[in-house]
Amino acid sequence: MRVLIASKNRHKIKEIGEKLKTLGIEFCSLLDFDVPEAPETGTTFLENVYQKSSFYAEKLNVPVLSDDSGLVVEALDGLPGVHSSRFAGSKATDRENLMKLIRLLKEKGLSESPASFVCFMMITFPDKKGLWSEGVLKGKVIVEPRGGRGFGYDPIFVPEGDTRTLAEYSTDEKNRISHRGRALDKIINLLMERVR
Ligand code: IMP
Repeated sequence: MRVLIASKNRHKIKEIGEKLKTLGIEFCSLLDFDVPEAPETGTTFLENVYQKSSFYAEKLNVPVLSDDSGLVVEALDGLPGVHSSRFAGSKATDRENLMKLIRLLKEKGLSESPASFVCFMMITFPDKKGLWSEGVLKGKVIVEPRGGRGFGYDPIFVPEGDTRTLAEYSTDEKNRISHRGRALDKIINLLMERVR
């Protein structure tokens, strides 16, 4: 079986691809095809992964693995959520998104809030059947960014049981506990059950 990873992000393709490879599953990615971009207009993570994987599975006739993730902040009623990558505007940088989040917390007189990183993954097969999984990393967001590693909201996210931000973790350490790693482990298990 060959699975298409519905992403052009090399870091993501490597992380997911390495796991598939250890199970003897071949993979390719959107970097190998010239296809239009799938719509991503859902109001939930699950809607978005469904949209993405069914779009490419139909177009390319292969099993497609898609993912969608973001940060859910309790004090902001779940924002930025599905808007995480464009919270401060359609072309916003990671820094601008993070600064907007800090500003909104400060406007509420808060220096932190419980929060979770959430990741949904879905594999859709050409027969339109699908498998999906969810991974969650619980913690809190703070208003003083720390650390130079990672990306996105890592500098303001402190995982439960720690005092460091995710931007102070090594890549391996982050991958072991991350929402994406957890969703990936779950969907791989589901996939193995299906092909066994
Ligand atoms: P994507 O669905 O993986 O592209 O993630 C959407 C957005 O969520 C990213 O642009 C980041 O702003 C945020 N995000 C997702 N995962 C992480 C993470 O592990 N660390 C920091 N930010 C993340």
